[in-house]
Amino acid sequence: MNEEQRKYQEITVEQTSSADKKSGQAKDYSQYFQATYQPPDLKSAKKRGKEDVFVHYDFEIPEDMANIGRGKKFLIRTYGCQMNEHDSENMAGILLEMGFESTVNQDEADVILLNTCAIRENAENKVFGEIGNLKVMKRENPGLIVGVCGCMSQEESVVNRILQKHQHVDLIFGTHNIHRLPELIKNAIFSKEMIVEVWSQEGDIIENMPRARKGQFQGWVNIMYGCDKFCTYCIVPFTRGKERSRRPEDVIEEVRHLARNGYKEITLLGQNVNAYGKDLLDSSYRLADLLDDIRDIGIPRVRFTTSHPWDFDDELIDVIAKGGNMMEHIHLPVQSGNNDVLKIMNRKYTREEYVALADKIKEKIPHATLTTDIIVGYPNETEEQFQDTLSLVKEMAFDAAYTYVYSAREGTPAAAMEDDVPKEVKKDRLQRLNEVVNRHSAMSNERMRDRTVEVLVEGESKKNPDVLMGRTRTNKLVNFKAPKSVIGELVYVKITDAKSWSLNGELVSEAEVAQL
Ligand code: 5AD
Ligand code: SF4
Repeated sequence: MNEEQRKYQEITVEQTSSADKKSGQAKDYSQYFQATYQPPDLKSAKKRGKEDVFVHYDFEIPEDMANIGRGKKFLIRTYGCQMNEHDSENMAGILLEMGFESTVNQDEADVILLNTCAIRENAENKVFGEIGNLKVMKRENPGLIVGVCGCMSQEESVVNRILQKHQHVDLIFGTHNIHRLPELIKNAIFSKEMIVEVWSQEGDIIENMPRARKGQFQGWVNIMYGCDKFCTYCIVPFTRGKERSRRPEDVIEEVRHLARNGYKEITLLGQNVNAYGKDLLDSSYRLADLLDDIRDIGIPRVRFTTSHPWDFDDELIDVIAKGGNMMEHIHLPVQSGNNDVLKIMNRKYTREEYVALADKIKEKIPHATLTTDIIVGYPNETEEQFQDTLSLVKEMAFDAAYTYVYSAREGTPAAAMEDDVPKEVKKDRLQRLNEVVNRHSAMSNERMRDRTVEVLVEGESKKNPDVLMGRTRTNKLVNFKAPKSVIGELVYVKITDAKSWSLNGELVSEAEVAQL
């Protein structure tokens, strides 16, 4: 990468002396760190422009780092969303090219990376618990490299806490400098200091990083990075930076590559995929165009996530309605059913506009399932406002919903608001909401009874290895008995039983399929 083009602020802190490490004395390094670190700042983040994103195709592992991992093993523990899963595949690819082998057994790992999630406080608490557990391992195996990366590393308070309280951590790096992993691992191995490298601003797109895909028939394809929506409760625009779309030709080539390698299903990924292309200043190519081009590629199933209602245009609905390999499942987060709450959340649509959009989708794609995300207990949410959310769930009869209690995220506008809603009230609202959501999921599943549906067989059921599990084109989970040889295949299953969260069914024979 051309250093001149690198506009980001780079921070490398190597200040923990080995003596400090041995003594285990926690020192206050925060002052030093704050001097070189930009915490999330809404005003300056909002000013970020759409220009100046370079695409690089010249990633390579430097020669002196290519064999560093020989005879050593790594383990990456991934928390949070599919974007993190995707990033972990890149990190695994890089480590394999450095000569490391992968392991799932933490006792034999020489490098353990925690790829973290910052979306809610409980996600962070889980990671801090894990960091604490690793202290014991590190004591028994001082050669072990412990790294913390992902969204939490982009937060100043997290980095300070690790610097002060978790000196057994060897390496902290952020979401914008994953491609620097070879150098960072080398430094962590050969230095006795804690290595901290977090770029506070997003940067260029690095196209050709190695990739060790976890799935052999299902693959993630990232189409854009970052988010510019700035919902007032959300940390993502700060941890993931501004919206940057990959070039269409690069996305399409990746999809073609997966098709050539027999992949059955791809998920196009982005924090806000509906904004795809808006930052490509030299082109009017949008998500609808991309999907239309991907329709022509021989891959049986294509889905995308996550959508924001604001950018969900008619062209997009029309392309999905054409069918083919486009899966009939739309995940469309609504967050609240009350217009005042939606407004202070900065969601940029009203309840009525959301309903109109959802109705349009249902009308044009009649078999589509509609799922959503909902937050309860936003600061000062009243019982009446919460009732509006309940009534929206009843009105929309969502096929499924992911529901959350609001969690204050440092640096976001909502976190600065006073909040008069007690925790217990928020928890109670979540429970009441879940009851309604589950009722509708069960009703939606019940409608599937006796239908014969296409299922992509993903593997053994978690609860019972004698049973296989897979998903319909509408993303419903199906359990059924079949030989293990169908794992990774598209089969037909007749639904015999419906539960709130899953369906049971029977494999339909090939002869019966021929008669369908
Ligand atoms: N608190 C609770 N839920 C949140 N989400 C995002 N930020 C927060 C927060 N601060 C939820 C939203 C989003 C989903 C991925 O996580 O519902 O759609
Ligand atoms: Fe967060 Fe999604 Fe809103 Fe972006 S659109 S700020 S990722 S909730």
